[in-house]
Amino acid sequence: MDRVIIFDTTLRDGEQAAGGTLNIQEKLEIARQLEKLGVDVIEAGFPISSPGDFEAVRLIAKEVRTPVICALAHANPQAIDRAWEAIKDAAHPRIHVFLSSSDIHLLHQLKKSREEILQTSRDMVARAKKYTDDIEFSPMDASRTEPRYMYQVLEAVIDAGATTVNIPDTVGYAIPQEFGDRISGIFKHVPNISKAVISVHCHDDLGLSVANSLEAVRRGARQVECTVNGIGERAGNASLEEIVMAIKTRKDFFNLNTNINTTQIYKASRLVSELTGFTVQPNKAIVGRNAFRHQSGIHQDGVIKMPITYEIMDPKTVGIPSSSLVLGKLSGRHAFKERLLELGYSLSEQDLARAFQAFKELADKKKEVTDRDIESLIAQEQRTVSEVYHLDLVQVSCGDKGMPTATVRLIGPDGKELADASLGTGPVDAVYKAINRILQVPNKLTEFTVKSVTEGIDAIGEVLIRIESGGITYTGRGADTDILVASAKAYMNALNRLLSAKKVAG
Ligand code: KIV
Ligand code: ZN
Repeated sequence: MDRVIIFDTTLRDGEQAAGGTLNIQEKLEIARQLEKLGVDVIEAGFPISSPGDFEAVRLIAKEVRTPVICALAHANPQAIDRAWEAIKDAAHPRIHVFLSSSDIHLLHQLKKSREEILQTSRDMVARAKKYTDDIEFSPMDASRTEPRYMYQVLEAVIDAGATTVNIPDTVGYAIPQEFGDRISGIFKHVPNISKAVISVHCHDDLGLSVANSLEAVRRGARQVECTVNGIGERAGNASLEEIVMAIKTRKDFFNLNTNINTTQIYKASRLVSELTGFTVQPNKAIVGRNAFRHQSGIHQDGVIKMPITYEIMDPKTVGIPSSSLVLGKLSGRHAFKERLLELGYSLSEQDLARAFQAFKELADKKKEVTDRDIESLIAQEQRTVSEVYHLDLVQVSCGDKGMPTATVRLIGPDGKELADASLGTGPVDAVYKAINRILQVPNKLTEFTVKSVTEGIDAIGEVLIRIESGGITYTGRGADTDILVASAKAYMNALNRLLSAKKVAG
């Protein structure tokens, strides 16, 4: 096979990243973007882990019809039954069963013998196979598993019906050549391997997840598990955009393809960053702000003469817009719509009207409206759509001699206006205390950051916060040219997520 299957686990392993909680609507929005991106498989969640995860997987299975929708289950009958319950309406369902296989895990965590693990792996794959043909099995911590025992497990689960066998480098311990040798070993020592696809799932603890995945591909693995922006447990997973663009850019080396529509990569990256609250580092390969910026004079000179001198990829291939058009207050609806389309947004007439109104208000405050401003504005509009309580007004009085005071008015779900005021140690504290007086939702603020979206004194300020309630972290974002308003919006965004999650949990 000359095609590598792209298995996206942003919504499962990606969401396992500390502080990266997504609500159901946000997961659906990401799944829709992954479908546009052309991923072959979406691992939508781990249904037994929580009612919210179960609902999200169920909704995605119903709504997103092109890719395979995969649900994770540990090797236990209830988990497998629950996984099937969540994906049974999918056009292409897959159950992914996992069980540790390394002696380290068997001895210190599971306290089971190799024989017991072998038997359970076989039995649980057979159980899942009664529900659907498409079964994936992962011997967790495979890269630290004694190879002969791993081959035995793989042979047993393929006999029981596994159609994909995934080799996870769960703790990011592997080195490319050694990991590649393990893949070659599977072809050599697992007699029924031709009945299954070999997949790899690499973590980035040593910064080698992409290198390990690509070496595995070179040795014959034909599915790669990865996440947008490389988010995931601890240091994260192999980054989807890096894997895909390495295979595409170095076709001369790999001679392989993927189904990915690479022009959707940038949009997927922005969306995942926006909804998880995980900012993409500027120097991140493919999608970082500086990934295609040339600073040195020699490089700039070369790129002007011929881009290939210092650019191995055309930024347009990954969907980075290259327009030099700057919008301002005289720009009309048509120009605004065109710009949105170029940035990858196709809005309904109603959403377009709202976004255009917001654009006009911004253009009144800001001379030049850039692409990043527009992206921030659209994200702000999308946040407003799913809210339980809407921030209607915020007024703050502060200064070096005054007592910081804030007045806040919210609109409740029944349309009722709710207003209150509070003093605070600073203006943001006063705003948050006024909101707390109205909503009375106990929580702890664990993170607060402000950054400007673009350069200049009139730039939009973007506030990112995280709050914690009942052991769960909720992220909130807000943007405005006034950073106190942005702070209030971010807090309301986090509280609205918390309230929606509580509603789902019942
Ligand atoms: O890292 C890991 O081992 C996993 C498995 C569940 C595949 O995420
Ligand atoms: Zn993982």
